[in-house]
Amino acid sequence: MSTYVTAVLRTDEPPLMHEAVLEAVRLLKEGEVVALPTETVYGLAANALDANAVAKIFEAKERPTFDPLIVHLPNKTQLDLVADVPPEIAQTVKQLTERFWPGPLTLLLPKKSIVPDIVTAGLPTVAVRVSSNAVFKRIISALDKPLAAPSANRFGSISPTSASAVLAELDTRIHLIIDAGASLYGLESTIIKIEPGSPKPLITIVRPGPLTPEDLKVYGKVKVATRTVVDEATEAPGQLASHYAPRTPLRLLSRPSDFIPEEGKRYALMSYRGEEKDGYLHLCEWEEVMMLSPGNGKLPEAAVRFFHILRRLDELGVDEIIAEPLHEHGMGIAMMDKLRRASVRRP
Ligand code: TXA
Ligand code: MG
Repeated sequence: MSTYVTAVLRTDEPPLMHEAVLEAVRLLKEGEVVALPTETVYGLAANALDANAVAKIFEAKERPTFDPLIVHLPNKTQLDLVADVPPEIAQTVKQLTERFWPGPLTLLLPKKSIVPDIVTAGLPTVAVRVSSNAVFKRIISALDKPLAAPSANRFGSISPTSASAVLAELDTRIHLIIDAGASLYGLESTIIKIEPGSPKPLITIVRPGPLTPEDLKVYGKVKVATRTVVDEATEAPGQLASHYAPRTPLRLLSRPSDFIPEEGKRYALMSYRGEEKDGYLHLCEWEEVMMLSPGNGKLPEAAVRFFHILRRLDELGVDEIIAEPLHEHGMGIAMMDKLRRASVRRP
């Protein structure tokens, strides 16, 4: 693998922003990859129409080429460039994109031939979204090309929600990281598939995320796909059973009585709201307790902190991370999905 001196450019003052945008656009035009902020998590972007540039994403992430990428558009009017929207679902696609784009919604649609096969891992469909992040928007508008961008982490690892997290994942593997502070949502976009149906179209959530079944139900009958390893090949091939995994083993509990500490082992707790009454705080002498939503148990707040806290707990070098269960509604659906995947050990 090639090695680089990885630069991190800030965007929190106008002259810095200007320079950062110019440099990102320059590299992207040259067919390089650049880590960019989005409103969900940081992404590792390359020109989606340039197969050689896209190949560098797979190399930097050590991502297997059977795992397709999301294509980000400069604006919703460019959807027709990359996707063929079937007439039977055109109305629903229009409603959803008008309501949620730019934003954390990704649609699976039949792909047009302009999209290189490496982007979609040979699948006949392409995953598309439009990001609402202000810095991302400036860069993609200046480039005026669709950008393929998976989360900017090494394959199977924890998604980055800050520039420093990207650096921890990809230092020396890429030229540039654009820093725009912490990600707004902290969870990857909700991915959906739309099928015609009567009386309502069928919306299948292939990957749960910031937009919840509640948000989508006005537009169709919503189903959350429960994926097994077997049907991953047809649904979201990248959603492997073992994913989002810290290096430290992680165990998700259903209730406090499920945990009996072993003598001499060091444990850290990922607590939902740090409440005594939930029954987890005194299960053992925790090496560290980190709370997702201190006090209140608010799911959107927990989401913003989720990957950051998982990364911090992983850095402690304890024997095991113990996770409390979260309410499984709203954004809790996505976090519980990720905790289940994180708790599956890689072979
Ligand atoms: O919020 C997000 O979606 C972030 C930001 C950077 O946009 N991106 C992201 O990308 O999470 P990534 O590559 O980490 O996850 C994309 C997921 C993978 O699980 C992949 O398998 C699935 O989308 N996917 C992409 N194209 C697909 C397709 N044509 N059919 C089924 N699943 C697809
Ligand atoms: Mg990812």
